[in-house]
Amino acid sequence: MHFIVTGGAGFIGSHLVEQLLLEDHSVTVVDNLTTGKHQNLPDHPNINFIQKDIIACQPEDFIQPIDGIAHLAATPSVGESWSNPLEAHHNNLSAMIAVLLLCEALKIPKLVFASSAAVYGNTSQLPVLEEHPTLPISPYGLQKLVSEQYANLFAPQLRLAFVALRMFNVFGPRQRPDSPYSGVISIFTNAMQQGLPITIYGDGTQTRDFVYVKDVAVAFTKALTTPLPAGSCLTCNVGTGKGTSLLQVVNIFKTYFPQWNSKINFTAARLGDIQHSYADISKASSSLDFAPQWLVASGIGRLVESL
Ligand code: UD1
Repeated sequence: MHFIVTGGAGFIGSHLVEQLLLEDHSVTVVDNLTTGKHQNLPDHPNINFIQKDIIACQPEDFIQPIDGIAHLAATPSVGESWSNPLEAHHNNLSAMIAVLLLCEALKIPKLVFASSAAVYGNTSQLPVLEEHPTLPISPYGLQKLVSEQYANLFAPQLRLAFVALRMFNVFGPRQRPDSPYSGVISIFTNAMQQGLPITIYGDGTQTRDFVYVKDVAVAFTKALTTPLPAGSCLTCNVGTGKGTSLLQVVNIFKTYFPQWNSKINFTAARLGDIQHSYADISKASSSLDFAPQWLVASGIGRLVESL
């Protein structure tokens, strides 16, 4: 099959491209390389690379037929969505409308969208179910939520099968560690590698549903390839269904960096930080046959090996 992956040179997108190639599909990657990198992509005859903003793409840019599009291009930072909400709105929400128009023009039957647990905001009920209230607490979360709503509105009209994958805390190789809003695992990896101290906000007992990027790539691939009715909409959490505390994460790291003996600085919890979060993944399991294969420890191990 032939799929478009927007943001295909980014952290999650590039792992998805690898998975699709592994399953013998051909891929058109669209990426403006703002945060993505060309080196993230393998050299493969079945990749066609378009260096463009998805909003600037025209139907003529694509080779047809297209069996589905995975839309991951975004401004992936909560912090940037606060400091530059208009640009984030453009990249996160307007881009979704551009993707829907492309689906219409190119008669693409399937759209899989990279949504986020950020749509839930500070949910207090655990595990987090797709039916729980969505109360985003950042422009980023709001843009992801409204993107889903746009697609839900357009899908029946376009006879498009739409899947929103609400990702929890994704980690793995190629995640950028260079922003205060980067995932904690990429920040810790960077610090441990350089023998630097790490900071724990709060007491480290907070838990997150850390999911390895290869499992996420499989979830996207299943969403792209599982036959779903035209005009239908499906929303699924993507996580492991289990919470892991930061203290547990630090202990895992210590096994991979036995020589690391820097300080752990404990400081005040981040404003708005939630204590616990983990997904209910039964919907992804029943609808997409998704079953995470990677333990947090083995994912961190592979991440460290990749350095
Ligand atoms: C994630 C998003 C965040 C968003 C939130 C709500 C990522 C990377 N972050 O945050 O932008 O606002 O969901 O949807 O996806 N921590 C440390 N030390 C560090 C970095 C982080 O102790 O150096 C702590 C944090 O305070 C937090 C935990 O580690 O308690 C996880 O942090 P993070 O990886 O940013 O994920 P979320 O808090 O889930």
